[in-house]
Amino acid sequence: MNILVTGGIGYIGSHTVVELMNRGHNPIIIDNLVNSDYEVVDRIEKITGKRPIFEKVEMCNFDEMHAFFTKYPKIDAVIHFAAILLVNESVDEPLMYYHNNLASTVNLLKCMKEFKIDNIVFSSSCTVYGEPDTLPVDEYAPVKPAMSPYGNTKKICEDILVDTTKVTDIRCIALRYFNPIGAHETALIGEFQDGPPHHLVPYITETAMGIREKLRVFGSDYNTPDGTCLRDYIHVVDVATAHINAIDRLVEKRSDKDFEVFNLGVGVGISVLDMIKAFEKATGIAIKYELVPRRAGDVEAVYADTRLANKELNWKAERPLEEMMRSAWEWEKALAEEK
Ligand code: WQD
Repeated sequence: MNILVTGGIGYIGSHTVVELMNRGHNPIIIDNLVNSDYEVVDRIEKITGKRPIFEKVEMCNFDEMHAFFTKYPKIDAVIHFAAILLVNESVDEPLMYYHNNLASTVNLLKCMKEFKIDNIVFSSSCTVYGEPDTLPVDEYAPVKPAMSPYGNTKKICEDILVDTTKVTDIRCIALRYFNPIGAHETALIGEFQDGPPHHLVPYITETAMGIREKLRVFGSDYNTPDGTCLRDYIHVVDVATAHINAIDRLVEKRSDKDFEVFNLGVGVGISVLDMIKAFEKATGIAIKYELVPRRAGDVEAVYADTRLANKELNWKAERPLEEMMRSAWEWEKALAEEK
């Protein structure tokens, strides 16, 4: 099938494009190249032996979006990753985040309606749960006021999709990612960082590489076993494979619902200190760290109830924490060799 993958050379997008090609699909990538690197297309070709179609498109520009669909009228389904996604940046630049993440989604849906493309998988986030009342958090948990403009754009996009699927033939599956980490086994694709990493695992690997002097552990006074935050870390390739299953569910019309949500996690909450231990165990490299005050906006603990995705998507996260850490470290070493 021809699958439009917006943001398809980003971190999760690129891993999903590889999995789509492994299953014999024909992904068509659009990206505005603002915070992604065209070279990823070459890397995807190296991994799969086939070059995916790529078009530079600014999705916030309706005419560009419309011109794309005129050129490629035979799209069977869409996976919509394209978004800017730095939580703290979104606090400083709310208008940039609301414009980019919402206008791109509205333009995409307008074109899907006009070109009669009915299937969309949307990249959402566990951030919509805020600080859950009960753990593990399931898809019926109340969506909480967003902790950041970024998180709010994910929530608003879900609302846009709910309302649009009610009055069109478009049907949607929203996948709420927990904490994707790690990289492809070839170490050819992974999470690129420009500047000091915001997320925990890239900061750990850059500390191990000597790029960062030490890891600051944000908060050790939480109400958790070791005082540090709990998160549900999931291998990025496991996140990618869930998208293929979601596409199949939509195209084969296996559900009578127009809009569905699924959690993508492992179902286990791991603390920051245990992540450091897991990295050290997987690589034999000690990580220097310092306990510092909490980071604003962090939730204390969030991890997934994965039963709905396991059952309805016929999908389960398979790659263990050791493999997540090993692949993250292999990716960091590959980046160092390219410098
Ligand atoms: C994880 C834990 C930090 C860095 C974010 C987004 C979320 C989603 C996934 C897009 C927290 C601690 C981190 C550091 C630390 N992204 N930490 N020192 O914040 O759970 O989720 O990424 O959809 O929307 O919010 O991920 O990796 O930043 O933090 O102690 O240098 O590691 O406090 O407890 P987070 P993270």
